[in-house]
Amino acid sequence: MASIEFVRVTKSFDKQEVIKDLDLKIEDGKFTVLVGPSGCGKTTLLRMIAGLDPQTSGSVLINGKDVSRIAPGQRGVAMVFQNYAIYPTMSVRENIEFGLKNNKVGKAERTELVESISRAVGLYDYLDRKPSTLSGGQRQRVALARAMVKKPSVFLMDEPLSNLDAKLRVQMRIELIELHKKLGTTFVYVTHDQVEAMSMADTIVLMNKGVIQQEAPPDRMYRQPSNCFTAQFIGVPPMNIAELGANGVKYGFRPESANLSAEPGDELFSLRGRIATREMLGSETIYQVRSGSGAFMIKCREDLFAVDQEAYVGVPADKLNFFGPDERRIEARDSSYRDYLEALRGQRHG
Ligand SMILES: Nc1ncnc2c1ncn2[C@@H]1O[C@H](COP(=O)(O)OP(=O)(O)O)[C@@H](O)[C@H]1O
Ligand SMILES: [Mg+2]
Repeated sequence: MASIEFVRVTKSFDKQEVIKDLDLKIEDGKFTVLVGPSGCGKTTLLRMIAGLDPQTSGSVLINGKDVSRIAPGQRGVAMVFQNYAIYPTMSVRENIEFGLKNNKVGKAERTELVESISRAVGLYDYLDRKPSTLSGGQRQRVALARAMVKKPSVFLMDEPLSNLDAKLRVQMRIELIELHKKLGTTFVYVTHDQVEAMSMADTIVLMNKGVIQQEAPPDRMYRQPSNCFTAQFIGVPPMNIAELGANGVKYGFRPESANLSAEPGDELFSLRGRIATREMLGSETIYQVRSGSGAFMIKCREDLFAVDQEAYVGVPADKLNFFGPDERRIEARDSSYRDYLEALRGQRHG
């Protein structure tokens, strides 16, 4: 078990700062997901925890202890990569056992560990197989098991599911959640996929360009995004955001927060537009509505409209968000919030 802490950490590559003055606490035993667009610095953060690529300044603490001078192998962390390397000529058992042999763990203890861990990840019946006879998901489990035998106090996982097909990815997501529950170990999981972050995390840490945008449990990240970036990174389609006026203030609403109707409704926000696109996804339909105020994505439970049809978009007051000129979300308790709500009510759109 271990907590991890970054204190004013900066990381540069050839004078280019990719992590800027970052402070972060990762709680012991939690499933923390680092998420953000490609190139935002997620792998760099993981490698600093593992000790593979030390920070330029600031400190990294594991269990409150500065690990700057501690070698990667001594930190009690195990890393599982996207391109996990398993040895093709070794059996599953030999692959899992490999690190233990190097650490001079005795035969009896090795066998017991390998068997209990292979049971935990569902590989017990495959111990004598060669990796080439396994499915992608099973190979991924071999990589996990190999990390697990070292009994690390922290698991670092860098996009471990991105090479798997969509169906298997969903299954492995559930397996990882269960594995985390079973082990109770600190998991730090990196992904660029917000759906993975939302479905697996106790805590999401959302980054952009080396800077943390928000740190929150999934439901709070969704309902109370701290800024425009978070509001549009989390959720598919992203939150609709448009200019309120000339003062740089923006308003926003989620695609499922709007009502679409053939007649104007009595919601605070009302806009007339035309259906530009329609995507029927089975349980829901996503429309793009174009109007004089811009294009808006609307998610409906029912499939009632056709392309080119005129429709009204209505959003109730409690589903509206406002963002200041600095792009930070304005809280409903802020005095300016009421003013912006009234400004939006006063506008006739479309
Ligand atoms: N070894 C390196 N040398 C130079 N630049 C690097 C190196 N590793 C990463 N970077 C740069 O640091 C930034 C963050 O990279 P990375 O942490 O890999 O992002 P992510 O994992 O979020 O996609 C990128 O701009 C990348 O080009
Ligand atoms: Mg990466």
